[in-house]
Amino acid sequence: MLVSAKEMVDKAREGKYAVGQFNINNLEWTKAILLTAEENKSPVILGVSEGAGKYMGGYHAVVGMVNGLIQDLNITVPVALHLDHGSYEGAFKVIEAGFSSVMFDGSHYDIAENIEKTKEVIKAANAKGISVEAEVGAIGGEEDGVVGGGEVADPAECKRIADLGVDILAAGIGNIHGVYPANWTGLRFDVLEEIKNSVGNMPLVLHGGTGIPDDMIAKAISLGVAKINVNTECQLVFADATRKYIEAGKDKQGKGFDPRKLLAPGFEAIKAKVKEKMVLFGSVNRA
Ligand code: 13P
Repeated sequence: MLVSAKEMVDKAREGKYAVGQFNINNLEWTKAILLTAEENKSPVILGVSEGAGKYMGGYHAVVGMVNGLIQDLNITVPVALHLDHGSYEGAFKVIEAGFSSVMFDGSHYDIAENIEKTKEVIKAANAKGISVEAEVGAIGGEEDGVVGGGEVADPAECKRIADLGVDILAAGIGNIHGVYPANWTGLRFDVLEEIKNSVGNMPLVLHGGTGIPDDMIAKAISLGVAKINVNTECQLVFADATRKYIEAGKDKQGKGFDPRKLLAPGFEAIKAKVKEKMVLFGSVNRA
């Protein structure tokens, strides 16, 4: 059964570890992440961007697939199905479709409009026990057409949004989606500390988990980060493993073209990557 992300991130914040949000794209991704979470007794958040939701056929299709897999694979760890960087309209659509958690990303609006829209999303989500993540200060880089400038959030604005009653807060601290450029100067821990001081016990989210060095992850967790999003890294290892299979000519041997064989190395690569992150984030055996 899907659960809200609130309890798992609250526990993570208190226990000084983080729950991974791994974005899903299809059946292979979803199955790999759910099985890895179960094998490692880790809570997990499945992230769905609006683009990925559309790709998979729509939000009802995603809900059906995820619920079906949880049942058929006997997944017992807490699983949240979460809209990633949702628009205002998208947030209401997933609340209706059966997601258990929603991010409304109003970071591109001015703060007054972000506050008004976040309030409406909280009202609709709370009525169904669905957790809400809000964002202040756009995350840099590009993800599914959502482009952010890599802003650094204003801690006072973070407090205004946190006080609305959101469950999880994403704040830009120099993090970006995708692979970090060679001249990236790292996370702004000074700002993270100010945010932490202004929002109290609110669990914070670190977007753009791909390629952040391990020591920065540990420091971010020590400063209140309780949810870390990873997307690109799983895509990269899946593509790499698939390319190796094809370059080795394996799709031309026997029934190597069967998708169940062709996609298996990528599936295993996602499993290994997700496990690595769960160990790094400290969420193993926390379910
Ligand atoms: P990466 O693709 O950089 O891992 O970022 C994922 C993310 O933040 C999803 O919201």
